[in-house]
Amino acid sequence: MNYRIWMSLGVIGLIASSSALGADMGSKLDRQLCSICHGPGGTTTSELFPQLAGEPAPYFINQMKAFRDKSRADENARRFMWGISSRLSDEDIQQLAAYYESQPPVHPGKISDQSKYELGKNIFTNGHPDKGVPPCMACHGEKGQGKETTPRLGGQHEAYLKRQLKVFYGNERPAATAMHEVVKGLSESDIEAIAHYLQAQ
Ligand code: HEC
Ligand code: HEC
Repeated sequence: MNYRIWMSLGVIGLIASSSALGADMGSKLDRQLCSICHGPGGTTTSELFPQLAGEPAPYFINQMKAFRDKSRADENARRFMWGISSRLSDEDIQQLAAYYESQPPVHPGKISDQSKYELGKNIFTNGHPDKGVPPCMACHGEKGQGKETTPRLGGQHEAYLKRQLKVFYGNERPAATAMHEVVKGLSESDIEAIAHYLQAQ
């Protein structure tokens, strides 16, 4: 093949791939650094590690920066995410964000307790008006799909959701000002119920 044909094929290739380039680079970083814990494409059956697939990019970027500047400081954040996030540039974080946002979220959860599920659904949809808890749905979306800087909750691991809701009682996620107010009116059994509902969405 002559030089000119090679050149034009190269140019076409570049145009076709430029929009997907961020996500492609993110995919490489995922394989090299993240999938060992979070699973390939940000989907894992291990309750230890949160699902990342389908996470809105602005929320993802905020969290990675909060690990990197050590402001998100709960025990597992310190142990698992502080070290690795310190190795990433802003550009790496953006590429990873584009990649995970484009991955289809999976919903591995099953309903094992119907009445718990119904209670969780009720709080998620209507809040607890008498205890000053707003409907979660108002910010997190009808199915907990998340939007912009508000995270996806649907299909997230039950154990992870419960842990984070308890973290919000303290100040180890200082950026989460909305959630510090929300959890004030939630009891232990409300948290159990909400987490059971959400993991099955
Ligand atoms: C050694 C295991 C491990 C590795 C490797 C790892 N993570 Fe994590 N990650 C965790 C754990 C555990 C948590 C939960 C932290 C917590 O409870 O605060 C977490 C939390 C997160 C969160 C917050 C999720 C949320 O819903 O708020 C993001 C985002 C994240 N990791 C992205 C990444 C990326 C990107 C990489 C690769 C560069 C990576 N992680 C590598 C274990 C790991
Ligand atoms: C006013 C808007 C708002 C309302 C109402 C709200 N949330 Fe949130 N929630 C947020 C935002 C914003 C964050 C991200 C905080 C951060 O950046 O750290 C968040 C984070 C969370 C997280 C952490 C998820 C993760 O991946 O780490 C959980 C769990 C959560 N919310 C559950 C709930 C539940 C359950 C309710 C209802 C009882 C609720 N939220 C109501 C805005 C809201």
